[in-house]
Amino acid sequence: MPIYLTATGLHTPKDKITNEELVASFNTYVDNYNRDNAAAIEAGKKVALQHSTAEFIEKASGIKSRYVIDKKGILDPKIMAPVFPARKLGEELSIMAEMGVDALQKALDTAGLKGEDLDGIICACSNFQRVYPAIAIEIQNAIGMKGGFAFDTNVACSAATFGIAQAAGMIKAGLGKCVAVVNVEITSAHLNWRNRDSHFIFGDIAAATIIEELDTPKGYEVLDCKLYTQFSANIKNEYGFMDRSEYLAAGQDIHADIKEPVTDKLFLQEGRKVFREVCPKVSEIISTHLAENNIDNQQVKRLWLHQANINMIDLILRTVMGKEADKAIAPIAITEYGNTSSASPMIAFHEHQDGVESGDLGVICSFGAGYSIGSVIVKKV
Ligand code: COA
Repeated sequence: MPIYLTATGLHTPKDKITNEELVASFNTYVDNYNRDNAAAIEAGKKVALQHSTAEFIEKASGIKSRYVIDKKGILDPKIMAPVFPARKLGEELSIMAEMGVDALQKALDTAGLKGEDLDGIICACSNFQRVYPAIAIEIQNAIGMKGGFAFDTNVACSAATFGIAQAAGMIKAGLGKCVAVVNVEITSAHLNWRNRDSHFIFGDIAAATIIEELDTPKGYEVLDCKLYTQFSANIKNEYGFMDRSEYLAAGQDIHADIKEPVTDKLFLQEGRKVFREVCPKVSEIISTHLAENNIDNQQVKRLWLHQANINMIDLILRTVMGKEADKAIAPIAITEYGNTSSASPMIAFHEHQDGVESGDLGVICSFGAGYSIGSVIVKKV
């Protein structure tokens, strides 16, 4: 029986930061740092920090703003990180589960379903706020599922398409008929807001996608999925439960007050290398995937791509669809939301379906750390 993507839902945090606000805070931090370290900088013992600019950010990335769960902490030049109280597990819903439940409830409402209609939930993200129990199982409990299964999976920025492929595969294997994929991203907590090269990149969000086996066509038929990974250390977040042991082995006092953030365990990337290495591979994977399904690239009406960078989207569009390709084929969500990691192609999909007619073909494609690339070919019912 065919498998359909029947609905999506978004949870958007209420706080929004513009480039101008972000740069004002960053530059205050830079000025304070340079003033406080003037003697060391003068003596050549420390390097003076440089200002950021809103012009650079928009030109290099296409981003104008981003939503976050705590604007106040991020914009405070003395803090520059989101600040939120710990919640007692089992007594309060965790922040990730709360965001995921809201996005999922919206998707279920759109699909005309209830939590109890779900057979499974895959919470597919870049960062999880704890190791276990799974955030997905907390969502399963809160959304009112009666039995079934839920689990977490992490494929960084590619987690949405890998999650959709898993959901479709599990349905085909007879493990259920209706599976939700939930992408919750609190990227603001993994970003080093003091790093000039990347302080502007990410935003927070949650997206949910319903995948169903149906005998009556609805939404988009999921025609085929293709997954690809290739090891690279060019995008990384090395935070992990063995950090304590590594710090101890390096002779560091883990019990000392943390005066500086532990920046080596936050998001780090070689942006130029990522751009150069990932774009051609994404174009190749999409084209190969379409050819394997006997689809000519020109038949594709919409490419809902990972929103890493506006120039990457433009390059992939032109290499897949030709130099003169209509920009409307690859819609942009990064301008308002920033890079929201796994959730980003689902935001593009959720917000840009105008003009897609019955029978039209589209590709949802994600790419990111790993490297990892996922392509899902869909056909509008
Ligand atoms: N404000 C002003 N200038 C800045 C700046 C900032 N915030 N950050 C860097 N610059 C300067 C650099 O110092 C450099 O100056 P120079 O030419 O005098 O040396 C110049 O801008 C270019 O810096 P560079 O780091 O090479 O920028 P870029 O054009 O490669 O853009 C990225 C940076 C991250 C936007 C880009 O590499 C990219 O999109 N990479 C794709 C990867 C990605 O987005 N991944 C996300 C996770 S999937």
